Amino acid sequence: MSADELAPVVRLAPAKVNLTLAVVATRRDGYHALHTVMVPLGLADRLSLARAAGPRDSLHVVGGADGRTSLDPVGFGSVLAGLDAARRIVGRGADAFPLAARLEKRIPVAAGLAGGSSDAAAAIDGALSAWKADASREDRQRAAASVGSDVPFFLAGGPALVEGRGERVTPLTPFAGRPPGILLVTAAVEVATAAAFAAIDRDPNAAPANRGSTRLTSEHLAAELGPGYPPLAADDLVRRAGVLAVANDLANAADLIVPGLRALRRALARLLGTPIGLSGSGPTLWALYPSLDAADEAARRVRDEHAAGRLESPGAGAPFVAATTIEGGTSA
Ligand code: C5P
Repeated sequence: MSADELAPVVRLAPAKVNLTLAVVATRRDGYHALHTVMVPLGLADRLSLARAAGPRDSLHVVGGADGRTSLDPVGFGSVLAGLDAARRIVGRGADAFPLAARLEKRIPVAAGLAGGSSDAAAAIDGALSAWKADASREDRQRAAASVGSDVPFFLAGGPALVEGRGERVTPLTPFAGRPPGILLVTAAVEVATAAAFAAIDRDPNAAPANRGSTRLTSEHLAAELGPGYPPLAADDLVRRAGVLAVANDLANAADLIVPGLRALRRALARLLGTPIGLSGSGPTLWALYPSLDAADEAARRVRDEHAAGRLESPGAGAPFVAATTIEGGTSA
């Protein structure tokens, strides 16, 4: 390899779930102030960056594990937005040469898993690395926030309390020991985040059912995962599943936007005998398990039930069903 050739820079872009999501206030700028505990997952997209042959950044998308995601790069503008944001950090002086991005898409889109935001964070970090550019934590955070509200979280690399519009990220203690398992069930429908937030302001039926208690649950979990408490293990998290599963202020909005989501949630709770939570504005539903094996077993049951015609899921086609882990390193 000659000196100016670049070995591709590869980044995993994990999905996230919200273990809690409190909408604290509607802000003057139209965004909503949040208090949410977010965790990265083992389920991840893979982004690789190489020097582009042409004069501009390019993007090629492959994958679509769920079989319903369109691979048209137009739908993945967040990667190119991430590269632009990275270029703004390094400024004109640096050799921020054009990059050819290749995205292997594994995370369902518009699903409440923040795949696009994670791709953008991976693009920012990967581009800076490809250009061998230094950037302060503040510059990275600012660049991330300029692309989207969920992007700064992914620079933290582990569980975090996310506040404000999404730009205030406080790292939390990783889970101790074996990573918790998590089952994801994503109905074959897309939910636009903006629509869910707009609904809670405009439609009384979409308003949060238990606003005050969601905030309390979120604060409590953030405190338990903060300094001064021993790290939580997977079993400790599973014991809290009941309170966490109802701690999402966007749940009523998601139920209005996606007819049949509430019924799917109830059916999963009955089938699996465990609390079912909602990630972000949905439609992804989650269930917590003490291990990946246990989550895998639950995924098998859900797939079998659907294949047998005993589990109805909104949208055209089968839901995306995946067992994965909550990631972020271990603290013991
Ligand atoms: O920042 P991002 O473009 O990802 O947000 C998508 C939309 O979700 C925003 O246009 C806004 O309507 C809504 N949103 C919000 N409050 C947040 C984050 C997003 O109202 N904290």
